[in-house]
Amino acid sequence: MKILIKNIKQLIQVERIKKPKVSGRQMSMLDTIKNAFLYIEEGRIREFGTMQDMEKAFFIPLSDSVKVIDAKGKMVFPAWCDSHTHLVYPASREIEYIDKIKGLSYEEIAKRGGGILNSAQKLQEASEEELIRFALPRLKEITEYGTGAVEIKSGYGLTVESEIKMLRVIRRLKELSPLTIKATFLGAHSIPIEYRGRQETYVDLVIDEMLPRVADEGLADFIDVFCDRGFFTVEDTDRILAAAAKFGLPPKIHANELDYSGGIQVGVKHGARSVDHLEFTGEEEIKVLLNSGTMPVILPGAAFFLGMVHAPARKMIDAGLPLALASDFNPGSSPSGNMQFILSMASIAYKLTPEEGINAITINGAYAMDVEKELGSIAVGKKANLFITKEIPTYEYMPYSYGDNKVETVVLNGEVQ
Ligand code: NIG
Ligand code: FE
Repeated sequence: MKILIKNIKQLIQVERIKKPKVSGRQMSMLDTIKNAFLYIEEGRIREFGTMQDMEKAFFIPLSDSVKVIDAKGKMVFPAWCDSHTHLVYPASREIEYIDKIKGLSYEEIAKRGGGILNSAQKLQEASEEELIRFALPRLKEITEYGTGAVEIKSGYGLTVESEIKMLRVIRRLKELSPLTIKATFLGAHSIPIEYRGRQETYVDLVIDEMLPRVADEGLADFIDVFCDRGFFTVEDTDRILAAAAKFGLPPKIHANELDYSGGIQVGVKHGARSVDHLEFTGEEEIKVLLNSGTMPVILPGAAFFLGMVHAPARKMIDAGLPLALASDFNPGSSPSGNMQFILSMASIAYKLTPEEGINAITINGAYAMDVEKELGSIAVGKKANLFITKEIPTYEYMPYSYGDNKVETVVLNGEVQ
């Protein structure tokens, strides 16, 4: 399909020279074009510019084969890149959420066999077909909110067969959904009750039995470990990441959500693509990150939902770090994949400017899941994953107007959804 979008009030996050990510002060810069056009051919962005430029654009065929969309009063953004989710899950967990309202902490709920283990038990009983059927509407919903690429983790299996089952579900979703999807193997998400007191034996299972199967079937793009107080230690993480490296799986890890866990350091040591959560990030962690290619990823939904301390986002950007934001969509700590809400929270709770927030959920989100060459900005040759907004006054309105959907039309792989 060929698509010409014309009269765009403002085209957001345009790039002539492609950058892999933006850091520090660069994060407050956002290139845009007012009164713009965008031309899509064979699933890719072929050209963009001002409406005056369009008149000179001889390569746009004036025939019925081009779908013309008049975007008067509307803006076009690159689709959001949500680099951290657990959106394959068997059931919601609103009942334990009530325990949480009544005062139990995330860790207390986990100790009672709730939390991740609750989801794991249900997932072990669910079939691949059921899990696909539950996940597809979630993918549709996040698409409607403007997401065009999403990372999905395993980690509710916690047995060899169930982890493989989850990853096969994610592989099937890659085929069924127009979204760009990356899969992450998170066998080390929680310690099953039968392994309590002999955690290393579970880590052995992850390394010796799960990992080789995952690699053999080519089921994962990344490896993840929940490296935090009460979950997996730095030593466990070090062993798992070293084993995964032999299979060519780069890390994206859960780190420093509950404490100064050393997760950031061990992630960077193993060349992690990203370290995520980061509520407990101090000077030392910032220094380690500054000397790395690892993207720090903050998950405002989880901090908001669990009422946790906030990651020091402002301090991190001011120190010169890049920052990405993701939804963490999961039934326990962030039951929403709405990236527009994440963008609003970035401004409201983390004091990011709209430009910083938009960079954090487009190009930096793309980097955090290794799709920045294909996605994350409006650039010639990149995949045409983008959305047209409803009529909005300014792009700053996107974070400001929290809670409602400002996206009107979504284009994925050059096709209107
Ligand atoms: O990212 N922190 C660890 N894992 C998930 C929570 C998963 C769950 O509670 O089901 C998270 O918040
Ligand atoms: Fe998570």
